[in-house]
Amino acid sequence: MPETYLVTGGAGFVGSHLVLALLARGDRVVVLDDLSTGHAAAVPEGALLVRGRIGDREALARAFAHGPFRAVFHFAALSLVGESMREPYRYMAENAREGLALIEAAVAHGVRRFVLSSTAALFAAPGTIPIPEEEPVDPGSPYGESKAWLERALLWAERIHGLRSAALRYFNAAGADPGGRLGEDHRPETHLIPRVLDAAAGRGPPLTVFGDDYPTPDGTCIRDYIHVADLAEAHLLAVEALADRSVRYNLGNGTGYSVREVIAAAERVTGRAVPHVIGPRRAGDPPVLVASSRRIREELGWTPRHPDLETIIAHAWAWRQAHPDGYGREEAALCGGPDRR
Ligand code: UFG
Repeated sequence: MPETYLVTGGAGFVGSHLVLALLARGDRVVVLDDLSTGHAAAVPEGALLVRGRIGDREALARAFAHGPFRAVFHFAALSLVGESMREPYRYMAENAREGLALIEAAVAHGVRRFVLSSTAALFAAPGTIPIPEEEPVDPGSPYGESKAWLERALLWAERIHGLRSAALRYFNAAGADPGGRLGEDHRPETHLIPRVLDAAAGRGPPLTVFGDDYPTPDGTCIRDYIHVADLAEAHLLAVEALADRSVRYNLGNGTGYSVREVIAAAERVTGRAVPHVIGPRRAGDPPVLVASSRRIREELGWTPRHPDLETIIAHAWAWRQAHPDGYGREEAALCGGPDRR
């Protein structure tokens, strides 16, 4: 039977891919997004877009008027580690305030399941790699701190109001819809893979590698890149698990790649050189973040379909080649009122 879901940040990179997956199985989706970083053109056809901020009571009321919702998926947030080191109080205040407002509204409207986009940034200097869920939370940035707070807030929402929740700690979301319908378009773009691809395509300046003096084999940071469609799949499984209990899962492939390895893989995929220079470290970047996703594999049977780095890069490259302006062109063609079906 089709269900109805609220997806905050459904116009963003990971959120839009979840919306696509929900619509593909016949569910109804309401997206709440202020389009500050997302794109109306990224909201797949068939979803209802409510424009507004989560912290704005009137916008929340407009979104919840389209319920009742079987679950709320909360993607909308400030999400850049480096930026959060420059604007710590904005990051902590906004992410906490908006997240709490949403949790409160979800409880008030009788929602029983809540899925939080959490992050590998909960772990600054993990003692165990790949990082299991048992690893103590010790954020390395105000961004990570804000997500740790929301995970804690959800524990209280369960204790006091019985709201079940899934905290899904994404490692490095990357790639694009394998069907070519959606991709990654941040402005400005700060993420490694799209920047590497722009450098390969000759768009913009050479890539700056943020530090080559880390304690890693080639001196550059190691990350666990996870295909955005595999992340979307994990959400569909997690929301079912909430029938029995609250859950928290680290989501990655369990394999780390250095910045230099990503550049080399992109050169193989694109057949082009990636012009790059070595720059200073970026504040807040831990040297190595690799997930153990054994728990979600064992408990929910999650199996990434696109674990291979070259496939992840190939999907991102295909979308970028087809959309050199990102969502720019589709965005310009969109018109209409503040909300859109
Ligand atoms: N990097 C560069 N040059 C660039 C961009 C990135 O060298 O131009 C490096 C970074 O220093 C880092 C790696 O590439 O070592 C990946 O950087 P990203 O900015 O792509 O991703 P982050 O690891 O900083 O952060 C991402 C998400 C966060 C999330 C985090 C968890 O943006 O929301 O993954 O690992 F918390």
